[in-house]
Amino acid sequence: MPDNKPRAIAVDLLSWYDANARDLPWRAPPGTNAPDSYRVWLSEIMLQQTQVASARPYFEKFTARWPSFDALAAADDSELMAAWAGLGYYARARNLLACARAVAALGGLPGTEAELRQLPGIGGYTAAAIAAIAFGQRAVVVDANVERVVARLFALADPPPGAKKRIHALTDSITPQSRAGDFAQAMMDLGSGICTARSPRCLLCPLRPDCAAFASGHPEAYPVKAAKAAKPQRYGTIFWLTRGEQVLLVRRPAKGLLGGMRALPTGPWAHTPPGLEGAPAPAGWQMRDETAAHGFTHFNLQLALAAAESGGHEIADGEWWPIAEIESAGLPTVFAKAARIFGRY
Ligand code: ADE
Repeated sequence: MPDNKPRAIAVDLLSWYDANARDLPWRAPPGTNAPDSYRVWLSEIMLQQTQVASARPYFEKFTARWPSFDALAAADDSELMAAWAGLGYYARARNLLACARAVAALGGLPGTEAELRQLPGIGGYTAAAIAAIAFGQRAVVVDANVERVVARLFALADPPPGAKKRIHALTDSITPQSRAGDFAQAMMDLGSGICTARSPRCLLCPLRPDCAAFASGHPEAYPVKAAKAAKPQRYGTIFWLTRGEQVLLVRRPAKGLLGGMRALPTGPWAHTPPGLEGAPAPAGWQMRDETAAHGFTHFNLQLALAAAESGGHEIADGEWWPIAEIESAGLPTVFAKAARIFGRY
């Protein structure tokens, strides 16, 4: 990376923020003195798992009812929990109260990341955000928006879960010595309004000249997505029981996968091949050489195919369907695939 790139990024971003910062109730205008630490702390706790638009009315309500750490520390637990209702994650509300009481006992919110991290409900991200925004410390603030912006600026080839350390180091490399709080909030604003996940608005972006993902021509391809975990494999057997020119079809149970659909009889869908378990009748079952495979949302299914001619046994339930008209039975794909294979024999 050329030496002047980090400085250029910070300068370009801060001048963009000076003109475009979102007006949010917990913020001090860009470049002014740090805002009230109570308001910064409260906003960061509320924003941990909640979008800005949803958190905002709660922030207004809380600061009107409890305007300081001391006021919140004296709050009635059940009144606070009721006021929090709707924000979800009630452990956050309990930690909020525990933290307010700890801060009131300390006589104020401490200003370093290390001290902040000792308090209930404050993890690495929140400690860095409060240190930078409320206390003007140079701290490296990485939330989901910042992660995406940095992955694009540097066109990172690794998906974020594995690239976390690298993203933190790169964010560190572009964080300026002064105005780290404005810088962090500028990154958040850029991520939420311009460098959005789906359709980044690169033509409006102040960092376009510095952005490797933009230069690649495919900014939306970053952050690179992690490969999906392999789906589990299940096995089953499909039974093709014929009576002359007809084949036995059944209705699947109303509940469960393909519930209520007409189907070929099957045994269990298990972690190992179940063989003839669940056959609809005793018969001279012959296993076909071919198998049918089907991908469901949560697992892949491999089906052995067993065929037999009915020996005239009583069939508990099902209907005999003309094989020549099997296409009109409305079978789900997995059974239609199997029927086509059986039909070839
Ligand atoms: N998300 C978390 N903290 C934020 C802040 N200070 N401004 C905007 N969005 C945020």
